[in-house]
Amino acid sequence: MANGQRRQVFAMQTATAPAIEDFLTANVGVEEISSLPLDHPGAHDPAYRARRNYIADLARQYRLDPEHKIPEAVYTQQETAVWRHASRQLEQVHARRACSFYLEAKQRLGISPFRIPQLGDLSAKLTVASGFRLAPVEGLVETRAFLSWLGKRTMLSTQYIRHHSRPDYTPEPDVVHEVIGHVPMFTVPDFADFSEFIGKGAVVATDEQLAQLGRLYWFTVEFGLIEEAGEIKAFGAGLLSSFSELEHAFTDKVERRPFNLEEVIHTKFDYSDMQPLLFVIPSYAYLKEVTRKFIRSFDKTGDLSVAPVGVPKAVW
Ligand SMILES: [Fe+2]
Repeated sequence: MANGQRRQVFAMQTATAPAIEDFLTANVGVEEISSLPLDHPGAHDPAYRARRNYIADLARQYRLDPEHKIPEAVYTQQETAVWRHASRQLEQVHARRACSFYLEAKQRLGISPFRIPQLGDLSAKLTVASGFRLAPVEGLVETRAFLSWLGKRTMLSTQYIRHHSRPDYTPEPDVVHEVIGHVPMFTVPDFADFSEFIGKGAVVATDEQLAQLGRLYWFTVEFGLIEEAGEIKAFGAGLLSSFSELEHAFTDKVERRPFNLEEVIHTKFDYSDMQPLLFVIPSYAYLKEVTRKFIRSFDKTGDLSVAPVGVPKAVW
């Protein structure tokens, strides 16, 4: 995959987001969906752009609905075929490379190649599992706003799918990345708490601290590895939603270092190419604890108490 083609796939995105307080009531803050960048595979396909606008409208409906019920997305056969292709391809490599929590959670959530899951169904299951929920969003959201919603145990999620001409590639987060990459990990209680810490930190972070949080997010939520029974496995969504990136992560071209928070928050990354350096955490509980201390250092007097929604209930 050439340089530049993967830009913004996993990033938390650009500069036109609503303030966190406004998000649920305002019809503002995301880019104009009908004007895709010229190098987007669907840029010259009017039917695809119409589908993107249809899906974007569902997210607007969600925000304007006083009850914030996630509308059901009706997918076309072509879109389902794209999902099936990407899911089946990823399943092969997940069996070898994905962490055990992920594999179990994906199965329990009922995420399968047969149909594109509905965000509403997944959100309800997540809430039971760990108090997390999903909120549909049309497209790219500015970093602080995106991360801040994690502090409310909420993941903003796109619902559209990549263009059928390039089923192995997307230049931006799509439903494959969100649902196959991210959603299962939010059922892991320590991972969900860790995500909440990042979000709470984003609310009070200085710009430099926000950049550090962005790097922590990148090297964990997107590209994290974990040591599991003496083996290294993947838990980051950028890995788990990309066949080529996941295979690449376990080759000699990648250095896999033990996770060190200080190092991670100061390590710059290039989102436009395959990752040459990844970090391996010893456990989600460890990640949660070092992140809690890191966030606490931002503002020792503010209310940074992390209060997950109760003790996670029985899963399903
Ligand atoms: Fe992502």
